[in-house]
Amino acid sequence: MMEATLWHPVALASAVGAAPLAVTLLEHALVLWRDGAGPVQAWADRCPHRGARLSLGRVQGGRLECPYHGWQFDPGGRCAAVPALPAFQPPASHCATAFACREAHGLVWVRLDASAEDSGLPAFPAEDDPELRKMNCGPYDVATSAPRIVENFLDMAHFSFVHEGWLGLREHPQIADPVVQDTPRGLRATGCQAWQPQSNLHATAASLVEYSYEVTAPYCALLTKVPEAGSTAVAHWRESIGLYICPLTPETSRVWFRLAVADFESPDEKLAAFQHTIFTQDQPVLESQSPKRLPLDPKAERHVVCDRVSVAYRRALVRQGVRFGVL
Ligand code: FES
Ligand code: CO
Repeated sequence: MMEATLWHPVALASAVGAAPLAVTLLEHALVLWRDGAGPVQAWADRCPHRGARLSLGRVQGGRLECPYHGWQFDPGGRCAAVPALPAFQPPASHCATAFACREAHGLVWVRLDASAEDSGLPAFPAEDDPELRKMNCGPYDVATSAPRIVENFLDMAHFSFVHEGWLGLREHPQIADPVVQDTPRGLRATGCQAWQPQSNLHATAASLVEYSYEVTAPYCALLTKVPEAGSTAVAHWRESIGLYICPLTPETSRVWFRLAVADFESPDEKLAAFQHTIFTQDQPVLESQSPKRLPLDPKAERHVVCDRVSVAYRRALVRQGVRFGVL
């Protein structure tokens, strides 16, 4: 499965503390843990001895201890001790199954299948911009496939209805025709414009806001918003938002947003509350869509010209051979 060869976000890095944490990725049960400030470990949540869930165990003396017979595992997965046999030296075969794991963008990323070439983490250029403050929102558990959520993120024609009074107005439902380019990882779309009454936390008046989008992986996308020059929006306001989705099962997903905003004053809660308002407007509509898996057959759903970005996204999934969460 090509999806297993990619890096996926599985948890907020800050959520992996003193206790082991159970997470799911592509229908695999995983346990995350770390020794103090050490690197995060991502293992199959299954003890090699009798299959107990390691996430029910505890972290003790820099090792993960199984809840059943207390076998102790070192970072990396080696079994270091079997308490019932104090003199026994466990062989290498008694190890836990460890997966490649990294931290980036405030999230823990896991790659289940390291046999294929590593294409790296999806890029987020705003991450390195010191004039933008970064913070994460979520997780949100959503009862639909990851591709349906990406497509919603790329879709501007719903603003005037789902986000009426915030990101759109019924009086201004028209959408500009964007320029869409295919990229090796997905697509780039520019020239997406919307008339927004409340485009961000600080907007005091409606403005024409220009969006650009980038799909950076099958289940990750970025948007960058810039108010039109001379608009009444806050001067120089710009922001990038990263959408990061963990595909739990083909029809359930866990979502985080990485905000990169030119606002260093507002408290975290206030920035998160705006994003929360917007996403909880999207969520019931997203969960109502049928089928939950994104149909890749071009004839399965009806398209219009302003669906150009979502049609390009579907083609990108076909091009890459994505199978999880699609029909
Ligand atoms: Fe884990 Fe026995 S099942 S130590
Ligand atoms: Co929306």
